Amino acid sequence: MNNDRGDKLALLHDLGVRVWLSRSGQADPAATAKGHDRAPAEEPVRQGSPADSTAMDWAQLEKTVARCHACDLHRGRTQTVFGTGDRQARWMIVGEAPGAEEDRRGEPFVGRAGQLLNAMLQAAGFRRPDVYIANIVKCRPPDNRDPRPDEAASCSGYLDRQIALVEPQLILAVGRVAAQRLLKCETPVGRLRGRLHRYGESPGVPVVVTYHPAYLLRSPREKQKVWQDLLFALEQGGT
Ligand code: URA
Repeated sequence: MNNDRGDKLALLHDLGVRVWLSRSGQADPAATAKGHDRAPAEEPVRQGSPADSTAMDWAQLEKTVARCHACDLHRGRTQTVFGTGDRQARWMIVGEAPGAEEDRRGEPFVGRAGQLLNAMLQAAGFRRPDVYIANIVKCRPPDNRDPRPDEAASCSGYLDRQIALVEPQLILAVGRVAAQRLLKCETPVGRLRGRLHRYGESPGVPVVVTYHPAYLLRSPREKQKVWQDLLFALEQGGT
C-alpha cells in the first residue's frame, strides 16, 4: 500500500467509514458508500445590503466586511471571519458562523469542527487550501447560538459576492443554517441530502448538502452518511 492510499484510508477511518477493499487492494467507493484584518479605524459600514457589494472586487469586499456594523453581531466580535482558501476553487464550502476559535484567529473552521472538515476534504481528495471556505455570517454569534435570520440577511450580500467571485463548480453546504440559507428553504438537512440543488439564478451553482462537522462530533454514527454525500458531490463534477 503506498503512503497516499494509507493516509486516505486512515482519514476514512477517522471519519468512521468502513472501507471495502477489492481483491486488487483498491478501495471500492461504491461498496464503501453503500481574515482577517482587524477593523481599521475607518467609518464603519452600516448598510450591509446585498446591493452594496455586487460590484466589489476581493479587496473592497474584504475591507467592507472588516468594517461592517450592519447587525448587532459586530458588538461581540474580536474580528470578522471573511473566508479562506483558493479564490478560484472548484469547490466552495459554506458553513454557518465563526465560533470562539475562529473569532480569535480570523479564519473559518479552525476549531475541532474544522479539523473534522479537513479530514472530510482530504477523504474527498482535496487539501484545505484547494477549496474556498466561508460562512453565512462573518461575525461570531454570542454563546455560539445560531445566527438569526435578520443577521444572516444582513450578511448575505457578502457571501453572494464571494460566490460570484469564486465561481465554484460546486458548493458543499455543511449544516442546516448554510443549506437553508443558500437554498432559501426550511427543509431539514436529512431531506436535502442526496439531491442536487442549485444556488442563484438559472442555471445556478450546483449545491450538495451534508451534515455540519460539529454535528458529527456529537453524532459520530452519521459520518458514514457524510462520506456518501462527499461521493455524491464528487460525482457531480467540479473535481
Ligand atoms: N462552524 C462553522 O459553521 N463555521 C466555522 O467557521 C466554524 C465552525
